[in-house]
Amino acid sequence: MNAPHPARPRLSAPEDEAHRRDADDPGHRHLFHVPPADGGRYPEAAYLAGNSLGLQPRATRDELLADLDAWSRLGVEGHLEAERPWLPYHEPLTAPAARLVGALPAETVVMNSLTVNLHLLMVSFYRPAGPRTRIVIEDSAFPSDSYAVRSQARFHGLDPDETVVRLRPRPGEDTLRTEDVTGYLAAEGDRVALVLLGGVNYLTGELLDIPAITAAGRAAGAVVGWDLAHAAGNVPLQLHEWGVDFAAWCSYKYLNSGPGALAGAFVHERHLGDPSLPRFEGWWSTEAATRFEMTPVSRPPATVDAWQISNPPIFSMGPVRTSLELFDAVGMPALRERSLRLTAYLERLLDEVTADRPLAVVTPRDPHRRGCQLSLRIGAGSAAELAKRLRHEHGVVADAREPDIVRFAPVPLYSTYHDCWRVADALAATVEATS
Ligand SMILES: Cc1ncc(COP(=O)(O)O)c(C=O)c1O
Repeated sequence: MNAPHPARPRLSAPEDEAHRRDADDPGHRHLFHVPPADGGRYPEAAYLAGNSLGLQPRATRDELLADLDAWSRLGVEGHLEAERPWLPYHEPLTAPAARLVGALPAETVVMNSLTVNLHLLMVSFYRPAGPRTRIVIEDSAFPSDSYAVRSQARFHGLDPDETVVRLRPRPGEDTLRTEDVTGYLAAEGDRVALVLLGGVNYLTGELLDIPAITAAGRAAGAVVGWDLAHAAGNVPLQLHEWGVDFAAWCSYKYLNSGPGALAGAFVHERHLGDPSLPRFEGWWSTEAATRFEMTPVSRPPATVDAWQISNPPIFSMGPVRTSLELFDAVGMPALRERSLRLTAYLERLLDEVTADRPLAVVTPRDPHRRGCQLSLRIGAGSAAELAKRLRHEHGVVADAREPDIVRFAPVPLYSTYHDCWRVADALAATVEATS
């Protein structure tokens, strides 16, 4: 039998250092509802799952109630007479959404959900012709994107197995290098119709070089679109300046707008008003000023609003507005600065924990190649089981992606240094050291 290890603190980083950092560098946690802990010795959860579902801003409930109240008082007249009239309800969301992703207001709209938007945008921007039919994605693309592009290939009568190219990291590496993508585009780009990548990869947390890959894809004659589910509200974006053709993102992760919240869509100015682009239409695709003339033929505006189809769900728009106001008030540059500090702190603590345990961080170490998330690969046992134990024994909420990844996202709006400390402390207590 081995002699027991001498008693030692689980982490060399002291807990009160985390508290000191929180005092020096506070976020905006007070503006959010933080769930109670499910276990452990602290009352609140250490919530590191904002990359999956962001926390509820305290302001959201009252804003929603105000919209419900307008409906109860005004009935159908709320379309024009509500304090925030429903007919143009999406319009005030456009400018803050555009600021968030570095776009012009005419290029940005909040509508539908993410995969739906990707499909509607692919109707316009995936146009296979002659030998140029391929769609390039990451091998570790979120499955919804993989299913979406495969179904688009089938929709065009193409074989998805031949049409969809899945880029893999080099053997022994966890993440794609920019040159893996640009190299493929330089070599095979004349066969590529569409590049559709995740700006920040959902699994590894890698931030791709969006401007470099966009430039390489366009130089090869392809259209370049981005799924920004894990990038919007996480990293600074300049979609207009980078020349991105189109993009879509959800609002339920870093944008804290609630489960299944409405998504965003971006179409670059150079495509707006182009009558040669196919688009699916409904009554919200036509210009607002003549919508109620009830004519049989649409007159779409030269903005991304032309990609809208139906009248929007008002009670889903309020939470997005509340969230975007918060991002405007705090500002992405300040959030990114705090995010870099928080994630670097978590990384430092994880370095200690992983040194003698079967755990490895697979997210790039270069802060410019990642957002706030760090992903841990579990060398032994089940990721789901580990996430469950972290939650029930320590009140640490993270999420598992089978078979072997647990993801931790210190979100700069509401996560704390102490949350990061709790993650490392809980891992140290839960995963046995090998020496
Ligand atoms: C990267 C990415 N793409 C697409 C989706 C699917 O989004 P939705 O269900 O809103 O269409 C998700 C959901 O988490 C995601 O993380």
